[in-house]
Amino acid sequence: MTAENNQEKKEKERILVSVAWPYVNGPFHAGHISGVYLPADIFARFQRARGRDVIMVSGSDCHGTPITIRAEQEGVTPVDIVNRYHPQILATLDKLGIEFDLFTKTLTDNHYAVTQDIFLKLLEKGFIYKEIMTGSYSEAQGRFLPDRYVEGVCPFCSNPKARGDQCDVCGNQLDPIQLGNPHSREDGSPITFRETEHYFLDLGKLQPDLQAWIDSQDRSYWRDNTVAYTKNWLERGLHGRAITRDLEWGVPVPVDDPAFKDKRIYVWFDAVIGYLSASKELANRLGKPDYWERWWKLDENGKSPGRSYYFLAKDNITFHTIIWPAMLLGYGGLDLPYDVPAAEFLNLEGEKMSTSQNWALWMPAIQERYQPDQLRYYLTAVAPETRDSNWAWTDFVSRINNELVGTYGNLVNRVLTNVYKNYDGTVPTPGPLDASDQALLAGRDEAFDRITEMLEGVHLRDALKEALVLASAANKYLDEKAPWKVIKTDRAAAGTTFWVALQVINTLKVLTYPFLPFAAERLHGFLGFEAGDGVSESYSGQEKDGVLAVRPTAQWAVEEVPAGQKLNQPQILFNKLDEKVAEEEKQRLLDSRKS
Ligand code: MF3
Ligand code: ZN
Repeated sequence: MTAENNQEKKEKERILVSVAWPYVNGPFHAGHISGVYLPADIFARFQRARGRDVIMVSGSDCHGTPITIRAEQEGVTPVDIVNRYHPQILATLDKLGIEFDLFTKTLTDNHYAVTQDIFLKLLEKGFIYKEIMTGSYSEAQGRFLPDRYVEGVCPFCSNPKARGDQCDVCGNQLDPIQLGNPHSREDGSPITFRETEHYFLDLGKLQPDLQAWIDSQDRSYWRDNTVAYTKNWLERGLHGRAITRDLEWGVPVPVDDPAFKDKRIYVWFDAVIGYLSASKELANRLGKPDYWERWWKLDENGKSPGRSYYFLAKDNITFHTIIWPAMLLGYGGLDLPYDVPAAEFLNLEGEKMSTSQNWALWMPAIQERYQPDQLRYYLTAVAPETRDSNWAWTDFVSRINNELVGTYGNLVNRVLTNVYKNYDGTVPTPGPLDASDQALLAGRDEAFDRITEMLEGVHLRDALKEALVLASAANKYLDEKAPWKVIKTDRAAAGTTFWVALQVINTLKVLTYPFLPFAAERLHGFLGFEAGDGVSESYSGQEKDGVLAVRPTAQWAVEEVPAGQKLNQPQILFNKLDEKVAEEEKQRLLDSRKS
């Protein structure tokens, strides 16, 4: 081992991949995966392959009205809802190869304890205060109702079914008190407004620190939407936000005050704490209780231990660039987000997805019909990375068939089958390289550097596109050289061409590993490598129940496939799709759509 390697071993750069906690009120749809979970996994795989010290954490967001409304609709408890959907969410992640170090839930004792600790510390430091506010009260039900449970006439557009938090017709944010004829959405009972006491996070007090943090760093690498939402909030000025609710479902408020016995911490306050609590849970599960500090604890000079990335959708931005950083600043000693790569939305067949109208692509359904790498390919190719994007089935079929199968799969297949058959299943020995051999290999090296840079900057779509460009270049090179013809007259020359092509394919295996890990792993085997010396993965003896950690031994490097290496019998990497699939899928969507 070289000295440099040694150094790296000691001081590996630490990368925390934090991923938004999905409400556990249903399975994942393609929008979640394309914008948030898959990008996080691609990024984490890349960083692990680069040899960084990575943890990736998230879990099911179990509190909040999305869960209680679902439970009430079905006449079951919130816990029943969690127990039904948490395993479905885990199954989707597992089947798609999205590998968390820990995917837990907010319903753990650990999460409750960490949340309460943060609440108490902020209270003690004067960043949380108490104030009386007005709440929506149903006399008939004898309880306060969350804003979402209240319905009435919109003051802006007169929609009679506006919700207490917003009007779906005109899109305005609302307060229940603005509604005409406010009543319970559930039983129609009238709403009155009563005073109720709550705790507030004093964002106004934290604004100067927050502003200083934002200003202190060059944010040019933040995405435009992340910057825009954040600036907008800061410019309007921050004020206190209620962080408790009149509810029974949530983390208890850790104060010795009978007035708060029936109140709970607001879901958004506890959910963002999940990143920290999950890191602590991971540490505890590994039997190394201080392990989480490696990604979270500032040193005595206030220096970050590494870089933390928060993957989420645009509707979550300010919770992660304002509220969570404010909580961390108030608490003190913990690292703030380095980057918040927020996604836009994925549309479906040109229309906005709507779960209530069942205009959505549910992952469990499509995972039954398509290979995980086919889904990962298309979900990345159309990821809503910088603007709203679109899933269209015709496009799905054509891109899988033309790009994944036609360009990449075909390159691998024609080279491997030819070499396997004609060179006794071993990598041929190259002769001198001519100009076009050298040009392809130089282009390969440049592509490797460019793609590395793109991945580092979380430009995942471009990185995948660039890998396909390299595959096309290799195809073109082969078309020109036609080694399958040349072999009949000049076996050595054809062997050189195949050797060059194999080198490029081996690099493509590495470059596409974050995106297409199942194919990369198989290709690694076809090329004659063994698990542990390249891209293959080995399970780290992890438990079930949310710990999905797999430690890849992938190496992010251009390495040579040595002449003479024994290959393994190649097989087709990706299945081609029947053209009629597109029509079938579109029909299926229309059939299940609700008006
Ligand atoms: N559950 C929220 C949603 O689906 C996201 C919570 S992100 C967290 O919109 F950071 F707060 F957990
Ligand atoms: Zn309205």
